[in-house]
Amino acid sequence: MAITQIKIVQDYIRMCTDGWEQGWHERNGGNVTYRMRPEEVEQCRPFFSAPGEWNPMGVTGANLAGEYFLTTGSGKYFRNIALDPLHSIGIVEINAAGDAWRIVWGLAGGAKPTSEFPSHYMNHCVRAAATGGAYRVIYHAHPANLIAMTYVLPLTARDFTRALWQSATECPVVFPGGVGVVPWMVPGGAEIALATSELMKEFDAAVWAHHGLFCSGPDFDTTFGLMHTIEKSAQIWVLAQSASGGKLRQTIRDDELRAIAREFGVTLNEKFLDP
Ligand code: 13P
Ligand code: ZN
Repeated sequence: MAITQIKIVQDYIRMCTDGWEQGWHERNGGNVTYRMRPEEVEQCRPFFSAPGEWNPMGVTGANLAGEYFLTTGSGKYFRNIALDPLHSIGIVEINAAGDAWRIVWGLAGGAKPTSEFPSHYMNHCVRAAATGGAYRVIYHAHPANLIAMTYVLPLTARDFTRALWQSATECPVVFPGGVGVVPWMVPGGAEIALATSELMKEFDAAVWAHHGLFCSGPDFDTTFGLMHTIEKSAQIWVLAQSASGGKLRQTIRDDELRAIAREFGVTLNEKFLDP
């Protein structure tokens, strides 16, 4: 028996490989974290090594103190994760104060959790609190069409939400709350972590201008599906803008967005619709 035979580890690796195959993870781009259930921690515990040193995160989230996370490694390539999980991913434990991690499995050879771990951790704290503990996955990727949009549209939640809702009919059903937008910031630290988690109080997804997208969800399917849906919609937006020279002939109207929401039983974030 190897840790890679445990279902949650297999599902996590599959999500990473699926993202690589979509072209969202050039080089070491992107990162995934999963907040483990207690029974999954117990399944993996026989494979734990002597814990490493505590490493301060620069942010504090008390509500997930003591929890365990699967994480991708900083500088690690998604295309290698399935071939070499021991060096590419790991499990970290959070300390009792909720402000530091230590490695208990994987990240072999001196690797560390993703440089975006502070953003992931704060997003987990906020999404877990907002969903009664249901949300467990935070996913960051570099999908090209969504990034391209951040050079064209004003960097507001309203502009991005409306453009994405209008670019594919199922979008308002998949993310009825809309998406948040973080202006360009230096990645990898506490400042962008706090800015992102502030938006994650309201949204399941946050765009990072000129960089990528953060998605959250209860499981791998939903979270990967959200990333996939948003990027597909962004691709349609870019194609339609390009083909029309920026002059669309028609789009989905606000009363039609409301009609979709009624039919599918979701509540749209009304502040993004015109009265
Ligand atoms: P890491 O290799 O540290 O995960 O960084 C990749 C990335 O996408 C930074 O935003
Ligand atoms: Zn990134």
